[in-house]
Amino acid sequence: MSGKIKTNFTIFGGTGDLTYRKLIPALYNLYATKKITSDDRIVAIGRREYQLEEYHEIIKDWVSKYSRIKFDETTFHNFLKQVDYFKMDFTNLEEYKRLEAYYKQKEIENHIFYYAVAPSFFSIISDGIISISDCKNEKIIIEKPFGETLENANEISKKLEACFGEDHIYRIDHYLGKEMVRSIQTLRFTNPIFANSWNNKNIDNVQIIAHEEVGVETRGNYYDKVGALKDMVQNHLMQIMTLVAMEKPDATHSIHDRQIEVLKTLRPVNRLDMESSMILAQYEGYKNEVNVDPHSTTETFAACKLFVDSYKWDNVPFYIKTGKKMSSREMNVIITFRPLDAESKPNVLTIKIQPLEGVSLKFNIKRPGESEEVIQTEMDFCQSCIPSHRINTPEAYERLLEAVVNSEQTWFSKWDQIYLSWKYIEQLKEKYSDLQLPIYSYNQNTDGPEEAIQIMEDDSQSWGESQLACKR
Ligand code: BG6
Repeated sequence: MSGKIKTNFTIFGGTGDLTYRKLIPALYNLYATKKITSDDRIVAIGRREYQLEEYHEIIKDWVSKYSRIKFDETTFHNFLKQVDYFKMDFTNLEEYKRLEAYYKQKEIENHIFYYAVAPSFFSIISDGIISISDCKNEKIIIEKPFGETLENANEISKKLEACFGEDHIYRIDHYLGKEMVRSIQTLRFTNPIFANSWNNKNIDNVQIIAHEEVGVETRGNYYDKVGALKDMVQNHLMQIMTLVAMEKPDATHSIHDRQIEVLKTLRPVNRLDMESSMILAQYEGYKNEVNVDPHSTTETFAACKLFVDSYKWDNVPFYIKTGKKMSSREMNVIITFRPLDAESKPNVLTIKIQPLEGVSLKFNIKRPGESEEVIQTEMDFCQSCIPSHRINTPEAYERLLEAVVNSEQTWFSKWDQIYLSWKYIEQLKEKYSDLQLPIYSYNQNTDGPEEAIQIMEDDSQSWGESQLACKR
């Protein structure tokens, strides 16, 4: 492979799960939709001794299984002309000279480096890249948790910023590429029925629920050090929470600025009654998972009740709940409005993020016929059930990779945002452990421990079955 290259994607962790499952299929989709072309290249870096043909064979299976766009032999064949495999030990700084020599054989205009590896490698990879780059035309895509500890993540961030500049660092949170997460703003700010009632006068509680059916699969090594709070809550779910609670962005306040305002007004951890604010639990059998400590106390489930202490959200609980090995895969944001009187039921707006994408709204209506009884009914819009919507909606990684190519930073996090949410989650975790609160246990294929349901039920008005998603 030689000739002038417009954008060269280098993936550290080229033989890892993220690359196979998400990145290569996303790049294939970008190629198939002509967002990347024969002027671009993908270099997968791995430690394994693969011949290029072997690597191509492997990714064929993944692309055919995970690509959004229907797999096409000819397109895939042409796509492979852009994909190279480079064997190297990226923990050995000496090896970067070989990588540099490899790049020098080509005329590369722009580099994009993707860290698709465990955070323990971020530091050494950063040193390696910095040692061979001119700190001009490089963009770095870094995955959460951005480092092993907050201090370590801060150091890596500073190191990268010093060389490449903040504008060239893309801290990716793939939830910000999901269609319905992107739609939260549109729903909130373009519909008067929601825009005018989005406050504590009208909203009783907000639930952000992310249930997964899968367990830790092959990622025991990573997950056991991280747990649900840092794996899901600190990033994906707090991103969503801030999008739900933020003020409208405008010419002088970006989405980022608005999200930061929310993070700064989270009720301080020392003012939370921990016992009724957080439940951590682990699924039965977790300790037997591969690469998990048999005495592990890592949580695979977290339920929290948080507050935003602003005039708009005073005393509105934000329930955040996530777990692995749950009975179903569902990710929903549920906004429960206050009912007008004792007779009527609350309006409930559900933003369905996955697996189905859509919006549903519960509202009151008269029971048909002679009866004057008020009953609740539901309008349910399934966006992803419409084939053309599904086909035309890019996957999260596809959308975010394209944004990096186009230098669009809007949907990537800046360090201050990561810092605030990380710090907050760390404080929650510390307090929970200082108080020696238990890591509960829950059976697989359930909705998590009973105690978590209790957190939500205790202060909800008794509106019956449907109000709390965890009860479904
Ligand atoms: C990742 C977490 O960021 O998100 C995983 O590390 C989790 O543990 C995954 O399974 C969930 O993503 P999605 O898109 O399947 O909801």
